[in-house]
Amino acid sequence: MIESEERARLVADHIYGTWRARKGWKKPLFITSAKGVYFYDDKDKPYLDFSSQLMCSNLGHGNKAIINAIIAQARKLPYIGPGFACEAKASAVEALLDVMPEGLNRFFFSTSGTEANEAAVKMLRQYMAPKYKIISRYRSYHGATAVGVSLTGDPRRWYAERARCTVPGIVFAPDPHCYRCPLKLEYPNCGIQCVEYIDYMIKEEGNVAAVFVEPVVGTNGKIVPPPEYYPRLRTICDENGVLLVADEVMSGWYRTGPAWALDNWAVKPDILTTAKGCTGAYVPTGITATTKEIADFFEDEIMCHGHTYSMHPLVLAAIPAAIEEYKKLTATGLPQRVSKHIEKRLHELMHRHVCIGDVRGIGHFWAVEIVKSRKTREPFNTKADKFAGGQTMTDKIASEALACGIYIHNWYDHFTVAPPLIITKEEVDQAVSILDDVLKIADREVEH
Ligand SMILES: Cc1ncc(COP(=O)(O)O)c(C=O)c1O
Repeated sequence: MIESEERARLVADHIYGTWRARKGWKKPLFITSAKGVYFYDDKDKPYLDFSSQLMCSNLGHGNKAIINAIIAQARKLPYIGPGFACEAKASAVEALLDVMPEGLNRFFFSTSGTEANEAAVKMLRQYMAPKYKIISRYRSYHGATAVGVSLTGDPRRWYAERARCTVPGIVFAPDPHCYRCPLKLEYPNCGIQCVEYIDYMIKEEGNVAAVFVEPVVGTNGKIVPPPEYYPRLRTICDENGVLLVADEVMSGWYRTGPAWALDNWAVKPDILTTAKGCTGAYVPTGITATTKEIADFFEDEIMCHGHTYSMHPLVLAAIPAAIEEYKKLTATGLPQRVSKHIEKRLHELMHRHVCIGDVRGIGHFWAVEIVKSRKTREPFNTKADKFAGGQTMTDKIASEALACGIYIHNWYDHFTVAPPLIITKEEVDQAVSILDDVLKIADREVEH
Protein backbone atom coordinates (compact mmCIF):
# COMPACT_ATOMS: atom_id res chain seq x y z
CA MET A 1 0.00 0.00 0.00
CA ILE A 2 1.40 3.43 -0.81
CA GLU A 3 2.09 5.68 2.14
CA SER A 4 -0.74 8.18 1.63
CA GLU A 5 -3.27 5.34 1.49
CA GLU A 6 -1.97 4.12 4.84
CA ARG A 7 -2.22 7.65 6.22
CA ALA A 8 -5.79 7.98 4.95
CA ARG A 9 -6.65 4.65 6.57
CA LEU A 10 -5.15 5.87 9.86
CA VAL A 11 -7.45 8.90 9.68
CA ALA A 12 -10.56 6.86 8.91
CA ASP A 13 -9.78 4.21 11.53
CA HIS A 14 -9.30 6.64 14.37
CA ILE A 15 -11.44 9.67 13.62
CA TYR A 16 -15.22 9.80 13.68
CA GLY A 17 -16.50 11.19 10.40
CA THR A 18 -19.32 13.72 10.44
CA TRP A 19 -22.96 12.77 9.93
CA ARG A 20 -22.17 9.26 8.73
CA ALA A 21 -21.94 5.64 9.72
CA ARG A 22 -18.28 4.70 10.14
CA LYS A 23 -18.39 2.05 7.46
CA GLY A 24 -19.18 4.69 4.85
CA TRP A 25 -15.82 6.44 5.36
CA LYS A 26 -13.10 3.89 4.80
CA LYS A 27 -10.92 5.44 2.14
CA PRO A 28 -11.11 9.23 2.25
CA LEU A 29 -9.27 10.99 -0.55
CA PHE A 30 -5.87 12.16 0.71
CA ILE A 31 -5.48 15.87 -0.03
CA THR A 32 -2.08 17.50 0.05
CA SER A 33 -2.62 21.09 -1.09
CA ALA A 34 -5.09 23.62 -2.49
CA LYS A 35 -4.77 26.77 -4.53
CA GLY A 36 -7.31 29.05 -6.18
CA VAL A 37 -10.37 26.98 -7.14
CA TYR A 38 -8.46 23.68 -7.09
CA PHE A 39 -7.34 21.20 -4.46
CA TYR A 40 -4.82 18.42 -5.13
CA ASP A 41 -4.44 14.82 -3.99
CA ASP A 42 -1.24 12.95 -3.15
CA LYS A 43 -0.69 12.16 -6.84
CA ASP A 44 -1.03 15.87 -7.67
CA LYS A 45 -4.33 15.28 -9.42
CA PRO A 46 -6.32 18.55 -9.44
CA TYR A 47 -9.96 18.73 -8.38
CA LEU A 48 -12.00 21.79 -9.29
CA ASP A 49 -13.84 22.82 -6.13
CA PHE A 50 -17.30 23.47 -7.57
CA SER A 51 -18.97 23.66 -4.12
CA SER A 52 -16.35 25.64 -2.14
CA GLN A 53 -15.97 22.55 0.10
CA LEU A 54 -18.99 22.86 2.42
CA MET A 55 -20.07 26.09 0.71
CA CYS A 56 -17.56 27.94 2.86
CA SER A 57 -14.31 28.51 0.91
CA ASN A 58 -15.85 31.56 -0.74
CA LEU A 59 -12.49 33.19 -1.52
CA GLY A 60 -10.87 30.05 -2.84
CA HIS A 61 -7.79 28.35 -1.49
CA GLY A 62 -4.36 29.76 -0.62
CA ASN A 63 -5.42 33.40 -0.25
CA LYS A 64 -2.20 35.12 0.81
CA ALA A 65 -3.76 38.15 2.52
CA ILE A 66 -5.80 36.00 4.91
CA ILE A 67 -2.96 33.56 5.55
CA ASN A 68 -0.55 36.42 6.28
CA ALA A 69 -3.01 38.06 8.67
CA ILE A 70 -3.30 34.79 10.62
CA ILE A 71 0.50 34.31 10.66
CA ALA A 72 1.11 37.88 11.83
CA GLN A 73 -1.41 37.46 14.63
CA ALA A 74 0.12 34.10 15.63
CA ARG A 75 3.49 35.83 15.99
CA LYS A 76 2.11 38.76 17.94
CA LEU A 77 -0.60 37.39 20.22
CA PRO A 78 -2.01 33.95 19.31
CA TYR A 79 -4.32 33.76 22.30
CA ILE A 80 -5.71 35.96 25.00
CA GLY A 81 -8.82 35.18 27.06
CA PRO A 82 -12.25 36.56 26.16
CA GLY A 83 -12.14 39.04 29.05
CA PHE A 84 -9.34 41.10 27.51
CA ALA A 85 -9.38 43.56 24.63
CA CYS A 86 -6.72 43.48 21.91
CA GLU A 87 -6.14 45.01 18.48
CA ALA A 88 -7.42 41.92 16.62
CA LYS A 89 -10.75 42.24 18.44
CA ALA A 90 -11.00 45.98 17.75
CA SER A 91 -10.14 45.56 14.06
CA ALA A 92 -12.67 42.75 13.62
CA VAL A 93 -15.42 44.91 15.11
CA GLU A 94 -14.50 47.82 12.86
CA ALA A 95 -14.50 45.65 9.74
CA LEU A 96 -17.83 44.03 10.65
CA LEU A 97 -19.54 47.36 11.36
CA ASP A 98 -18.74 48.26 7.78
CA VAL A 99 -20.39 45.19 6.25
CA MET A 100 -23.22 44.18 8.61
CA PRO A 101 -26.80 45.29 7.88
CA GLU A 102 -27.42 48.68 9.45
CA GLY A 103 -28.40 48.42 13.10
CA LEU A 104 -26.79 45.02 13.70
CA ASN A 105 -23.79 46.28 15.63
CA ARG A 106 -23.37 44.10 18.70
CA PHE A 107 -21.49 40.81 18.26
CA PHE A 108 -20.94 37.52 20.01
CA PHE A 109 -18.02 35.49 18.62
CA SER A 110 -17.77 31.71 18.67
CA THR A 111 -16.16 29.12 16.41
CA SER A 112 -18.95 27.67 14.26
CA GLY A 113 -22.32 28.32 12.70
CA THR A 114 -23.88 25.92 15.16
CA GLU A 115 -22.57 27.91 18.10
CA ALA A 116 -23.66 31.18 16.49
CA ASN A 117 -27.21 29.81 16.38
CA GLU A 118 -26.99 28.36 19.89
CA ALA A 119 -26.04 31.81 21.19
CA ALA A 120 -28.85 33.44 19.19
CA VAL A 121 -31.45 31.13 20.71
CA LYS A 122 -30.28 31.71 24.29
CA MET A 123 -30.21 35.47 23.72
CA LEU A 124 -33.61 35.67 22.08
CA ARG A 125 -35.28 33.41 24.62
CA GLN A 126 -33.91 35.52 27.48
CA TYR A 127 -34.83 38.74 25.70
CA MET A 128 -38.32 37.63 24.68
CA ALA A 129 -39.23 35.76 27.90
CA PRO A 130 -41.80 34.48 28.71
CA LYS A 131 -42.23 33.91 24.96
CA TYR A 132 -39.93 31.05 23.92
CA LYS A 133 -41.25 29.23 20.85
CA ILE A 134 -39.37 29.40 17.59
CA ILE A 135 -40.76 28.81 14.12
CA SER A 136 -38.30 27.19 11.74
CA ARG A 137 -38.86 25.45 8.39
CA TYR A 138 -38.62 21.84 7.23
CA ARG A 139 -36.11 22.55 4.51
CA SER A 140 -33.38 23.80 6.82
CA TYR A 141 -30.16 23.06 8.64
CA HIS A 142 -29.11 25.17 11.59
CA GLY A 143 -26.40 23.16 13.31
CA ALA A 144 -25.32 20.03 15.14
CA THR A 145 -25.73 20.72 18.85
CA ALA A 146 -29.04 20.16 20.66
CA VAL A 147 -30.40 23.62 19.87
CA GLY A 148 -29.08 23.83 16.30
CA VAL A 149 -30.35 20.41 15.36
CA SER A 150 -33.73 21.06 16.97
CA LEU A 151 -34.12 24.06 14.67
CA THR A 152 -33.21 21.80 11.76
CA GLY A 153 -35.88 20.41 9.49
CA ASP A 154 -33.71 18.01 7.52
CA PRO A 155 -33.22 14.32 8.38
CA ARG A 156 -30.26 14.99 10.64
CA ARG A 157 -32.79 16.00 13.32
CA TRP A 158 -34.38 12.54 13.20
CA TYR A 159 -31.09 10.98 14.37
CA ALA A 160 -30.54 13.61 17.06
CA GLU A 161 -34.08 12.90 18.31
CA ARG A 162 -33.16 9.23 18.66
CA ALA A 163 -30.13 10.34 20.69
CA ARG A 164 -32.55 12.37 22.87
CA CYS A 165 -30.46 15.44 22.12
CA THR A 166 -33.10 17.95 21.09
CA VAL A 167 -34.84 20.79 22.89
CA PRO A 168 -38.57 21.60 23.00
CA GLY A 169 -40.38 24.68 21.77
CA ILE A 170 -39.62 24.58 18.05
CA VAL A 171 -42.32 24.23 15.38
CA PHE A 172 -41.94 23.98 11.61
CA ALA A 173 -43.54 26.08 8.90
CA PRO A 174 -44.11 25.14 5.24
CA ASP A 175 -41.23 25.93 2.91
CA PRO A 176 -41.41 28.56 0.15
CA HIS A 177 -40.37 25.84 -2.28
CA CYS A 178 -42.23 26.54 -5.52
CA TYR A 179 -40.87 23.50 -7.41
CA ARG A 180 -42.33 21.23 -4.73
CA CYS A 181 -44.90 23.45 -3.02
CA PRO A 182 -45.89 21.75 0.26
CA LEU A 183 -49.34 23.38 -0.05
CA LYS A 184 -49.73 22.16 -3.66
CA LEU A 185 -50.24 25.70 -4.91
CA GLU A 186 -48.72 27.52 -7.82
CA TYR A 187 -46.99 30.88 -7.82
CA PRO A 188 -48.15 33.63 -8.52
CA ASN A 189 -51.75 32.58 -7.90
CA CYS A 190 -50.95 31.08 -4.52
CA GLY A 191 -51.20 34.33 -2.53
CA ILE A 192 -47.88 33.22 -0.95
CA GLN A 193 -49.81 31.04 1.48
CA CYS A 194 -46.55 29.61 2.82
CA VAL A 195 -45.79 32.94 4.47
CA GLU A 196 -49.41 33.68 5.40
CA TYR A 197 -49.47 30.36 7.24
CA ILE A 198 -46.66 31.64 9.47
CA ASP A 199 -48.96 34.45 10.61
CA TYR A 200 -51.60 31.79 11.40
CA MET A 201 -49.02 29.67 13.25
CA ILE A 202 -47.84 32.57 15.40
CA LYS A 203 -51.40 33.42 16.43
CA GLU A 204 -52.48 29.82 17.02
CA GLU A 205 -49.30 28.64 18.78
CA GLY A 206 -48.97 31.51 21.22
CA ASN A 207 -45.68 32.24 23.00
CA VAL A 208 -43.77 32.57 19.71
CA ALA A 209 -40.54 34.50 20.25
CA ALA A 210 -38.88 34.26 16.83
CA VAL A 211 -38.96 33.03 13.27
CA PHE A 212 -35.63 31.46 12.25
CA VAL A 213 -34.81 31.29 8.52
CA GLU A 214 -32.01 30.58 6.11
CA PRO A 215 -32.81 33.48 3.73
CA VAL A 216 -31.78 31.33 0.77
CA VAL A 217 -31.97 27.74 1.95
CA GLY A 218 -28.55 26.11 1.58
CA THR A 219 -27.95 22.40 2.00
CA ASN A 220 -31.64 21.67 1.65
CA GLY A 221 -32.10 23.01 -1.83
CA LYS A 222 -30.93 26.59 -2.65
CA ILE A 223 -34.53 27.68 -2.29
CA VAL A 224 -35.08 31.29 -3.35
CA PRO A 225 -38.57 32.38 -2.25
CA PRO A 226 -40.87 34.54 -4.37
CA PRO A 227 -40.04 38.27 -4.13
CA GLU A 228 -42.97 39.04 -1.83
CA TYR A 229 -42.00 36.44 0.79
CA TYR A 230 -39.44 38.20 2.98
CA PRO A 231 -41.00 41.70 2.99
CA ARG A 232 -44.26 40.01 4.07
CA LEU A 233 -42.48 37.87 6.68
CA ARG A 234 -40.87 41.01 8.13
CA THR A 235 -44.32 42.62 8.43
CA ILE A 236 -45.82 39.49 10.00
CA CYS A 237 -43.02 39.41 12.58
CA ASP A 238 -43.44 43.11 13.37
CA GLU A 239 -47.22 42.92 13.65
CA ASN A 240 -47.01 39.98 16.02
CA GLY A 241 -44.08 41.22 18.11
CA VAL A 242 -41.84 38.36 17.00
CA LEU A 243 -38.12 38.54 16.15
CA LEU A 244 -36.80 37.62 12.72
CA VAL A 245 -33.52 35.71 12.83
CA ALA A 246 -31.53 35.26 9.62
CA ASP A 247 -29.14 32.32 9.61
CA GLU A 248 -26.68 33.57 7.00
CA VAL A 249 -24.09 30.92 7.86
CA MET A 250 -24.10 29.61 4.30
CA SER A 251 -26.01 32.26 2.35
CA GLY A 252 -23.92 35.18 3.64
CA TRP A 253 -20.63 36.66 2.49
CA TYR A 254 -21.56 37.53 -1.11
CA ARG A 255 -22.61 33.97 -1.92
CA THR A 256 -25.91 35.23 -3.38
CA GLY A 257 -24.53 38.52 -4.78
CA PRO A 258 -24.83 41.11 -1.99
CA ALA A 259 -23.08 40.63 1.36
CA TRP A 260 -26.23 39.10 2.87
CA ALA A 261 -28.93 37.07 1.17
CA LEU A 262 -31.69 39.09 2.87
CA ASP A 263 -30.24 42.19 1.14
CA ASN A 264 -31.75 40.78 -2.07
CA TRP A 265 -35.13 41.79 -0.66
CA ALA A 266 -33.99 44.84 1.33
CA VAL A 267 -35.15 43.17 4.54
CA LYS A 268 -33.31 43.48 7.85
CA PRO A 269 -33.39 40.80 10.54
CA ASP A 270 -33.28 41.45 14.30
CA ILE A 271 -30.51 38.90 14.73
CA LEU A 272 -28.09 37.65 12.07
CA THR A 273 -25.93 34.59 12.56
CA THR A 274 -23.02 33.71 10.34
CA ALA A 275 -19.82 31.64 10.08
CA LYS A 276 -18.19 29.82 7.12
CA GLY A 277 -17.33 32.60 4.64
CA CYS A 278 -16.57 35.27 7.26
CA THR A 279 -12.94 34.15 7.24
CA GLY A 280 -13.22 32.35 3.89
CA ALA A 281 -13.07 29.21 6.09
CA TYR A 282 -9.38 29.75 6.86
CA VAL A 283 -10.12 29.62 10.60
CA PRO A 284 -13.30 28.48 12.38
CA THR A 285 -15.60 31.36 13.25
CA GLY A 286 -19.16 31.98 14.34
CA ILE A 287 -20.78 35.38 14.74
CA THR A 288 -24.11 36.29 16.32
CA ALA A 289 -24.99 39.90 15.49
CA THR A 290 -27.81 41.70 17.26
CA THR A 291 -29.31 45.15 17.51
CA LYS A 292 -28.25 47.55 20.27
CA GLU A 293 -31.74 47.22 21.69
CA ILE A 294 -31.23 43.50 22.33
CA ALA A 295 -27.71 44.15 23.69
CA ASP A 296 -29.08 46.80 26.06
CA PHE A 297 -31.30 44.17 27.67
CA PHE A 298 -28.11 42.34 28.68
CA GLU A 299 -26.72 45.38 30.52
CA ASP A 300 -28.18 43.89 33.69
CA GLU A 301 -29.20 40.41 32.54
CA ILE A 302 -26.50 37.71 32.49
CA MET A 303 -25.89 36.50 28.94
CA CYS A 304 -25.61 32.84 29.87
CA HIS A 305 -23.15 31.78 27.20
CA GLY A 306 -19.40 31.77 26.44
CA HIS A 307 -16.40 29.74 25.32
CA THR A 308 -12.66 29.63 26.05
CA TYR A 309 -12.20 30.38 22.36
CA SER A 310 -14.76 33.18 22.10
CA MET A 311 -13.08 36.05 20.21
CA HIS A 312 -9.97 33.94 19.56
CA PRO A 313 -7.38 36.41 18.18
CA LEU A 314 -6.29 34.09 15.33
CA VAL A 315 -9.89 33.93 14.20
CA LEU A 316 -10.62 37.60 14.56
CA ALA A 317 -7.43 38.56 12.69
CA ALA A 318 -8.74 36.72 9.64
CA ILE A 319 -12.06 38.61 9.53
CA PRO A 320 -10.82 42.08 8.41
CA ALA A 321 -8.45 40.43 5.93
CA ALA A 322 -11.32 38.40 4.41
CA ILE A 323 -13.65 41.42 4.30
CA GLU A 324 -10.98 43.42 2.47
CA GLU A 325 -10.59 40.57 -0.03
CA TYR A 326 -14.36 40.39 -0.63
CA LYS A 327 -14.46 44.12 -1.27
CA LYS A 328 -11.56 44.03 -3.71
CA LEU A 329 -13.04 41.05 -5.52
CA THR A 330 -16.55 42.47 -5.87
CA ALA A 331 -15.06 45.80 -7.07
CA THR A 332 -13.57 43.94 -10.06
CA GLY A 333 -17.06 42.85 -11.15
CA LEU A 334 -15.85 39.27 -11.68
CA PRO A 335 -18.33 37.49 -9.37
CA GLN A 336 -21.24 39.49 -10.83
CA ARG A 337 -20.26 38.51 -14.40
CA VAL A 338 -19.53 34.88 -13.61
CA SER A 339 -22.77 34.32 -11.66
CA LYS A 340 -24.76 35.12 -14.82
CA HIS A 341 -22.55 32.71 -16.75
CA ILE A 342 -23.15 29.94 -14.16
CA GLU A 343 -26.90 30.48 -14.47
CA LYS A 344 -26.76 30.31 -18.26
CA ARG A 345 -24.52 27.23 -18.36
CA LEU A 346 -26.66 25.33 -15.84
CA HIS A 347 -29.84 26.05 -17.79
CA GLU A 348 -28.09 24.77 -20.93
CA LEU A 349 -27.25 21.59 -19.02
CA MET A 350 -30.93 21.27 -18.16
CA HIS A 351 -31.87 21.47 -21.86
CA ARG A 352 -29.48 18.64 -22.64
CA HIS A 353 -30.28 16.31 -19.72
CA VAL A 354 -33.70 14.86 -19.05
CA CYS A 355 -32.64 13.89 -15.54
CA ILE A 356 -32.54 17.55 -14.47
CA GLY A 357 -35.92 18.53 -13.06
CA ASP A 358 -35.01 21.98 -11.82
CA VAL A 359 -32.15 24.44 -11.80
CA ARG A 360 -32.56 27.13 -9.15
CA GLY A 361 -30.44 29.56 -7.25
CA ILE A 362 -28.95 33.01 -7.17
CA GLY A 363 -25.43 34.43 -7.39
CA HIS A 364 -22.88 31.64 -6.85
CA PHE A 365 -25.43 29.45 -5.05
CA TRP A 366 -27.21 26.87 -7.25
CA ALA A 367 -29.01 23.55 -6.99
CA VAL A 368 -29.34 21.08 -9.84
CA GLU A 369 -32.25 18.82 -8.90
CA ILE A 370 -32.20 15.30 -10.34
CA VAL A 371 -35.51 13.54 -11.04
CA LYS A 372 -36.72 10.23 -12.41
CA SER A 373 -39.39 11.96 -14.43
CA ARG A 374 -39.43 15.60 -15.42
CA LYS A 375 -43.16 15.40 -16.09
CA THR A 376 -44.25 14.01 -12.70
CA ARG A 377 -41.22 15.42 -10.83
CA GLU A 378 -40.80 12.02 -9.20
CA PRO A 379 -37.44 12.05 -7.43
CA PHE A 380 -34.85 9.26 -7.52
CA ASN A 381 -34.46 9.55 -3.77
CA THR A 382 -36.28 11.07 -0.83
CA LYS A 383 -35.29 12.59 2.50
CA ALA A 384 -35.50 9.18 4.18
CA ASP A 385 -32.90 7.76 1.76
CA LYS A 386 -30.25 10.28 2.82
CA PHE A 387 -28.91 8.25 5.74
CA ALA A 388 -30.46 4.89 4.89
CA GLY A 389 -27.10 3.45 3.82
CA GLY A 390 -27.56 3.01 0.07
CA GLN A 391 -26.12 5.10 -2.72
CA THR A 392 -28.47 7.83 -3.93
CA MET A 393 -28.47 8.94 -7.55
CA THR A 394 -26.77 12.21 -6.58
CA ASP A 395 -24.14 10.18 -4.66
CA LYS A 396 -23.40 8.36 -7.91
CA ILE A 397 -23.17 11.62 -9.85
CA ALA A 398 -20.91 13.26 -7.24
CA SER A 399 -18.56 10.30 -7.00
CA GLU A 400 -18.22 10.01 -10.79
CA ALA A 401 -17.63 13.78 -11.01
CA LEU A 402 -14.91 13.49 -8.37
CA ALA A 403 -13.23 10.71 -10.33
CA CYS A 404 -13.26 13.10 -13.30
CA GLY A 405 -11.73 15.94 -11.25
CA ILE A 406 -14.82 17.95 -10.22
CA TYR A 407 -15.89 18.21 -6.59
CA ILE A 408 -19.62 18.79 -6.02
CA HIS A 409 -21.45 18.60 -2.71
CA ASN A 410 -24.65 16.62 -3.02
CA TRP A 411 -27.85 16.12 -1.05
CA TYR A 412 -30.46 13.41 -1.60
CA ASP A 413 -32.31 15.29 -4.33
CA HIS A 414 -29.79 17.71 -5.86
CA PHE A 415 -26.16 18.61 -6.20
CA THR A 416 -24.69 21.98 -5.41
CA VAL A 417 -22.95 24.39 -7.71
CA ALA A 418 -21.43 27.00 -5.40
CA PRO A 419 -17.85 27.62 -6.48
CA PRO A 420 -15.51 30.13 -4.85
CA LEU A 421 -16.32 33.68 -5.92
CA ILE A 422 -12.91 33.92 -7.63
CA ILE A 423 -13.86 31.34 -10.27
CA THR A 424 -13.56 32.41 -13.92
CA LYS A 425 -15.93 31.69 -16.82
CA GLU A 426 -13.35 29.29 -18.30
CA GLU A 427 -13.19 27.31 -15.07
CA VAL A 428 -16.99 27.16 -14.93
CA ASP A 429 -16.99 25.85 -18.52
CA GLN A 430 -14.43 23.20 -17.61
CA ALA A 431 -16.63 21.92 -14.76
CA VAL A 432 -19.84 22.09 -16.79
CA SER A 433 -18.35 20.10 -19.67
CA ILE A 434 -17.42 17.30 -17.26
CA LEU A 435 -20.85 17.37 -15.61
CA ASP A 436 -22.34 17.18 -19.11
CA ASP A 437 -20.75 13.77 -19.45
CA VAL A 438 -21.34 12.58 -15.89
CA LEU A 439 -25.09 13.35 -15.96
CA LYS A 440 -25.63 10.60 -18.54
CA ILE A 441 -25.56 8.20 -15.55
CA ALA A 442 -28.90 9.58 -14.41
CA ASP A 443 -30.30 10.21 -17.92
CA ARG A 444 -30.07 6.46 -18.58
CA GLU A 445 -32.36 5.74 -15.62
CA VAL A 446 -34.98 8.37 -16.34
CA GLU A 447 -38.49 6.97 -16.89
CA HIS A 448 -39.89 7.82 -20.30
C1 LIG B 1 -27.44 27.50 7.34
C2 LIG B 1 -26.50 26.83 8.27
N1 LIG B 1 -26.57 27.10 9.57
C3 LIG B 1 -25.72 26.53 10.45
C4 LIG B 1 -24.77 25.63 10.04
C5 LIG B 1 -23.83 25.01 11.02
O1 LIG B 1 -22.55 25.56 10.87
P1 LIG B 1 -21.27 24.77 11.39
O2 LIG B 1 -21.15 23.54 10.56
O3 LIG B 1 -20.15 25.74 11.20
O4 LIG B 1 -21.50 24.47 12.83
C6 LIG B 1 -24.66 25.31 8.68
C7 LIG B 1 -23.66 24.35 8.21
O5 LIG B 1 -23.66 23.91 7.09
C8 LIG B 1 -25.55 25.93 7.77
O6 LIG B 1 -25.52 25.67 6.46
